[in-house]
Amino acid sequence: MHRFEKIWLILSSALIIGFMLVTGYQAFALGMAPPSHQEILDPQKVDETAPFDNPGVKKIGENEYEVVMTLQIFSFTPAEIEVPAGSTVHFIMTSKDVVHGFQVAGTNLNTMVMPGYIQKATQKFDKPGEYLVLCNEYCGAGHQFMSTTITVK
Ligand code: CUA
Repeated sequence: MHRFEKIWLILSSALIIGFMLVTGYQAFALGMAPPSHQEILDPQKVDETAPFDNPGVKKIGENEYEVVMTLQIFSFTPAEIEVPAGSTVHFIMTSKDVVHGFQVAGTNLNTMVMPGYIQKATQKFDKPGEYLVLCNEYCGAGHQFMSTTITVK
C-alpha cells in the first residue's frame, strides 16, 4: 500500500472514531439524545383515554392553565380557547388520525402532533390578542382550513 494511502486511511478512521466519541458523549453522558420513554396511547381509543376523554381548558393555578386538546381532520378540539393575559398555558395534545401540526403564530410554539403519542408544550401569553393557531403538517384535502384561535384577554 502506498504510504499516503495509509496516512489517509488512518486519518479518516481517526476522524470517524472522533465523531463517534463526541456524539456518544453528548448522548449518554450529557443526555442530549432524542427523548425516550415517550407517552403513548392507542390512537383508536383517544375518546376513551384520559385526559382526552374530556378535552378543554382547565385552570390549574394562579395564571396557569392546562389545555387538553385533540387534533383531527380538520379541526382542533376545543375550538375556542380563552385565557387572561400573563397566563402560562400547558398544552397536552394528541392526534386522532394523521400527523398534524400545532403552530401558534407570533410565538415560538410550533410542534408536530402524531397519532399514538402525547405531545406536551408550554407557552406563556403576555400580550392580549387573537393568536392564530395553524396546522402546519399536510394532513389531507382540508389541511388549509385547519386553524383556530387562542384569545388572550
Ligand atoms: Cu392538520 Cu394539516
